[in-house]
Amino acid sequence: MADTVTTSPPVKAGAEQFRKNGFARDAKLPSAAQLDLNTFDISDPEYWRQEAYWPYFARLRKEAPVHWCPDSPYGPYWSVTRYQDIMTIDTTHGIFSSEGGITIADQDADFRLPMFIAMDPPKHDLQRKTVQSIVGPENLKSFEGLIRSRTATLFDELPVDEPFDWVDKVSIELTTMMLATLFDFPFEDRRKLTRWSDVATGRNNPDVVQSEEQWRAELLECLGYFTRLWNERVNAPPRGDLVSMLAHGEHTRNMSPQEYLGNLILLIVGGNDTTRNSMTGGVYAMHKWPDQLAKLKANPSLLPSAVSEIIRWQTPLAHMRRTALQDYEIGGKTIRQGEKVLMWYASGNRDEENYTKPNDLWIERPMVRRHLSFGFGIHRCVGNRLAELQLLVLWEEILKRFEKIEVLAEPERTPSSFVKGYMRMPVRVTPK
Ligand code: HEM
Repeated sequence: MADTVTTSPPVKAGAEQFRKNGFARDAKLPSAAQLDLNTFDISDPEYWRQEAYWPYFARLRKEAPVHWCPDSPYGPYWSVTRYQDIMTIDTTHGIFSSEGGITIADQDADFRLPMFIAMDPPKHDLQRKTVQSIVGPENLKSFEGLIRSRTATLFDELPVDEPFDWVDKVSIELTTMMLATLFDFPFEDRRKLTRWSDVATGRNNPDVVQSEEQWRAELLECLGYFTRLWNERVNAPPRGDLVSMLAHGEHTRNMSPQEYLGNLILLIVGGNDTTRNSMTGGVYAMHKWPDQLAKLKANPSLLPSAVSEIIRWQTPLAHMRRTALQDYEIGGKTIRQGEKVLMWYASGNRDEENYTKPNDLWIERPMVRRHLSFGFGIHRCVGNRLAELQLLVLWEEILKRFEKIEVLAEPERTPSSFVKGYMRMPVRVTPK
């Protein structure tokens, strides 16, 4: 799930090339109309940091919905940008494999991190089954009270009528607490989980890691910490936390350390960055569409629909990648065996062929749960119901206690074509 966990030597060169040769920070980007579609590469992080990609995706959907980029720091790749085509690829796992990696980057030959999101059946299914009951209906029921009391306590302690960073104080804190519960991770050390999540996905972000060595060293520190937890739990009776489930699971108990680390990173990033960025994105979207917030306040029964719409509108993971196992025709193009295919959920969720008012937040949107943000097919997000629950409780508690949440400046965005999110967002809250 981490975009950089899956990198190979050419990609390592790619990461460095981005630091040196990509668009410079704040560069003036070419207009969508000027683009040469023969060479266009949407993966440059600067498009993402500046949130400049919308008109480029609109042009791709219109003129080249199955688009070949012949050269990028990650090698050549296909971009699939229409809703229906993405759905087709995502549900054709027999041809579009996850085994080569699920982000634009490939695996590092000398630092492989196998994880079940980047596996095909049968191993994928067996490992997924090992952990999925952590977010089963029974657990969700018992988590709800905990999520609510933590959210309420956190809100009671927020600065009132003075600026603070919503990302750090609310979104990161709430998702990190949840993650600590899922792993039964020492609570006082929980910010380590936030750091490892940021490191795992931030290999190309100089604000997060400064070198390849640092990136690997911090991930190995994560492995060291979790190995201590594994050793504690493997010798105790099985319990309901993720580490115990992995340590006792028939299909996970003999994992190599690299595979343990890979699956940890999957679960850390899966449970962290995505929900975190939906928590920020929702507040930002309601600020941009105050009429929708007013509608929600007037009719709180719209909350479940609003939550799904926030997740569609935000699309916290911009793409998932597959590798073709055989030649395949789609959109008048032939994808050849071995080629990389990027399903751009960020684009499919804004496809004008599939959605009315695709760019707007519209909390009464028909068929609102049929967005692409959780994927479809055998890899559809394990944690989708938990993420929705966390967001539902967040908004119930917001509506209960705040008169308004003002967004004081444009948020800073992550420079990543994978994790589509926010670094910081200054806000001021006014209690009722
Ligand atoms: C709004 C929040 C979330 C979003 C947008 C999201 C998105 C995704 C996406 C796009 C996939 C891949 C789907 C595909 O390839 O078809 C995925 C898989 C996954 N997610 Fe999430 N996720 C979220 C929350 C969570 C949470 C809270 C957890 C953990 C409890 C989690 C754990 C996972 C896991 C383990 C997988 C791998 C599933 C598999 O390969 O079978 N996610 N998620």
